[in-house]
Amino acid sequence: MEIKDFLATKAKTIDQALDDYLPSEDKKPSRLHESMRYSTLIGGKRLRPVLTLTVAHYLFGVEEKKVMPAAIAIELIHNYSLIHDDLPCMDDDDYRRGELTNHKVFGDAISVLSGDALLTYAFELLTELDGDFAGEDIVRVSREISQSAGCQGMVGGQVVDILAEGAERKKDKKTDLEFIHRHKTGALLQASVRTGAILGGANKEELTALTIYAENIGLSFQIIDDILDVVGDEEKLGKEVGSDEGKNKVTFPSVYGLEESRDMAQKKIQSAKEAIGIFGKDAKLLVKLADYIIDRNY
Ligand code: IPE
Ligand code: IPE
Ligand code: MG
Ligand code: MG
Ligand code: MG
Repeated sequence: MEIKDFLATKAKTIDQALDDYLPSEDKKPSRLHESMRYSTLIGGKRLRPVLTLTVAHYLFGVEEKKVMPAAIAIELIHNYSLIHDDLPCMDDDDYRRGELTNHKVFGDAISVLSGDALLTYAFELLTELDGDFAGEDIVRVSREISQSAGCQGMVGGQVVDILAEGAERKKDKKTDLEFIHRHKTGALLQASVRTGAILGGANKEELTALTIYAENIGLSFQIIDDILDVVGDEEKLGKEVGSDEGKNKVTFPSVYGLEESRDMAQKKIQSAKEAIGIFGKDAKLLVKLADYIIDRNY
């Protein structure tokens, strides 16, 4: 099966689960639920939950349904991060996933609150792992996901991203760049993989290999996101290109140029694939997902 077809099939299962888990618009406060559902259900590649499911199910044989609450929790955190990232006080973007951004439809206040609600609901969902996994592993996964989302993870990266806007000295930019990308994007991708591994019962060696894999695909994913913001197709991306340049963001292309950035992303993907060599053929899907990250055009 082509990896694109695999992703599309898995994305459908994840979309259905998101639809089932998200609170109904009929329930009060419906405006909040509408806003949460709007941004979450209009699309998205679902790469993070796909990684969690792929590691847990295809590598370690855990029933997909059992891991689903954790995979969905991570996707909800990702969606909250996107809603807040697009706000006027952050990146001030008007389009996301081919539609108007959340605040353009619901206003800033509801967007902030629906982001808050998605984040909080994610942690409520983790409690649904109870009964299917050892309590100790649920605690580990909760720690993993909260750390990846918080001040030492995504939020930390977003802060440095905002503070670095307009930085002029190349040396300062280089210092911040890896930190920004590893935190704002890498951390949650790493948690997606590690969550699948922990729930799959990975041993120490396996967890280390998967962590190196995740670190590398995480950084590479954001390098490609930066590149697509320069050379991508708006239709396909569903968001406006040139947004980073407009805000003087510190990005890989702005510091290293397009060609070197692509080379760097490619090298990371190579390292990611090498790291999971210990799994042999069982890691075929993860190898393909790594290649997809660099080959993608949206
Ligand atoms: C966009 O993430 C923001 C980044 C962290 C680069 P994705 O490219 O995964 O966005 P969706 O979920 O597919 O819309
Ligand atoms: C955002 O990075 C990472 C998040 C934590 C949301 P970007 O600001 O580059 O993401 P896009 O390009 O708006 O999707
Ligand atoms: Mg941003
Ligand atoms: Mg942005
Ligand atoms: Mg971007």
